[in-house]
Amino acid sequence: MEIADKLHGQAGRVQTKHRLYRLMIIQRPLWFQTKFPNPHSLSLSGRWATIGVIALMSLTETPLETDAMLTEVTRTRDFPSLAGITYLNSAAEGIPPLAVGQALQQYFADKQLGMDGRERHASQWNAAKKLVAEFYGLTAGEVTICSCSSEAYNLAAAALQLQAGDEVVINDLDFPAGATPWLQPTCPATVKVWRSRAGALNVADLLPLLGPKTRLVTTSLVSFFNGYKLCLPEIIVAVRKHSPALVSVDVTQALGRIPLDLNDVDLIVSSTHKWILASHGGGLIGVPAKRAAAWTVPAGGWFNLQDAFGPQRFEQAVSLPGAAGFTVGMPNYPAVYAIRAGLEYIRGVGLSAINAAAQPLTEACLDELTRLPIELLTPRDTSAIAGILAFRHPRAEQIQQQLRSQNIHVMSHAGRLRIAIHGYNTAQDIEKLLRELRVALK
Ligand SMILES: Cc1ncc(COP(=O)(O)O)c(C=O)c1O
Repeated sequence: MEIADKLHGQAGRVQTKHRLYRLMIIQRPLWFQTKFPNPHSLSLSGRWATIGVIALMSLTETPLETDAMLTEVTRTRDFPSLAGITYLNSAAEGIPPLAVGQALQQYFADKQLGMDGRERHASQWNAAKKLVAEFYGLTAGEVTICSCSSEAYNLAAAALQLQAGDEVVINDLDFPAGATPWLQPTCPATVKVWRSRAGALNVADLLPLLGPKTRLVTTSLVSFFNGYKLCLPEIIVAVRKHSPALVSVDVTQALGRIPLDLNDVDLIVSSTHKWILASHGGGLIGVPAKRAAAWTVPAGGWFNLQDAFGPQRFEQAVSLPGAAGFTVGMPNYPAVYAIRAGLEYIRGVGLSAINAAAQPLTEACLDELTRLPIELLTPRDTSAIAGILAFRHPRAEQIQQQLRSQNIHVMSHAGRLRIAIHGYNTAQDIEKLLRELRVALK
C-alpha cells in the first residue's frame, strides 16, 4: 500500500480537528496580515473598512482559507517555490512562507524612514520576543535574540567563567556550535564526551560523567546528525540529582516542528533559518529568571549594558543579567522581522497540527528505510525522533546527486545522507523519495 493511502484516514481526522480550530481562531488575523502587511499604510477610512470586514467575518465565520501549510492549496499559495520540487532539507534551510518575504520588505520600508523607523523596529522586536517566549514557555523578559547559535554559546562560555577543575559534558550527536566553545585551548575546563550507542544517548551513560565538578551539560534536543530526540525530563532529573550543573539545550532542530516542553532548562538556544521558516542571522535565547545571575555575560557592547550612556560609562561596564545580556549591540532587525513572521506563521498553523501531519510521514519513511540496504543512523524507536532521518552508504554522494537529478533535495554532509520532513511535506514527497532511492541503491 502506498504511504498516502496508509496515512489517509489518520491525516483526514487530524485535519478536520485543526481546520475547525483555525476557522474559529486563527484565519482572520492571518488573512488580515496577508492582505495588509503594513496596517500603518492604511488611511483612516481604510482602517475603519478593515475593522468592518473583520467584524462581518466574525459574525459569518466565513472560511477564507484552510490549514495554512498543511493543504495543497495553502502550500501552493504560501510556498510557491515548492512547486515541482521534493524538498526534504528543512534541517539545513527551511523554506520561508511568503509572509516572511513580506516582513523583510516591511523592514526595508521601515528602514527607509531613518531614525523614525526605530519605533517600528522596536514593535517588531517586542512582537518577536513575545513569540519566542511563548514557544519557549518563558516570559518576554526571559528571552532575547542574538545573531546565531554559535554567538550564543560563545557568550554563554564567557558568562560561566570556568576554572581549571570544572567539567563540561558535551555529546557526540551535537552540532559543533554547542560543543566547541569548551574545546578551545583558552577554556580551562575538562570536557567529557557523552557517547551515543546505536544512535541514542542513554541516561545510564551520562550518570558516570556527572559529579560535583560538573558545571554544564550541553546538548541538542534533536540531533542535527541523526535526528535522535532526547528525553529531556529524564536528563534533567539525572543532572539535578548527581551534579550542580546547568543544562543548556539547543532546540534548533526541534523548534517549529514539534511541541516543546523546556521546563527547568537553564539556557535555551535556537537558530532561525530552519524549521521556524525565518531568515539567517538570528539566535533565540531563553534564560529563566531564576538563572539570570548564572548567565550574566561579561561582554562589551551597549545594548547589553545597564547604563551604557550614563556618567560612569568610562569607568565601568555592568551587564544586564540573563537573556538581555546576550544581545550585545543593535539587534539584527531584518532577521527580527523575519523571525516575527516565521514564528507567527508557525503559531498560526499550530505545532501540534504540524507534528500531527509530519510525524506519520517521518515514521512511515523510517519504516521503509529499515528495509533498504543502507546503514540507518536514526534509532528505530519512533518516540525518539522528530523530523530528521539519516543513513550512511558508501555511495552517499552519488545517491544524493541522483536524487537531486530528480529534483529531490536531501542533505549529504558529515558522512551521511539526511532527510528532513516538515509540515509542508506530503506523502507524495516521501513516496517519490523512496522510489528514487530504491533505484539509486540498485
Ligand atoms: C543543532 C544546531 N545548532 C545550531 C546550528 C547552526 O548554528 P548557527 O546559528 O551558529 O549557524 C545548526 C545548524 O545546522 C544546528 O543543527
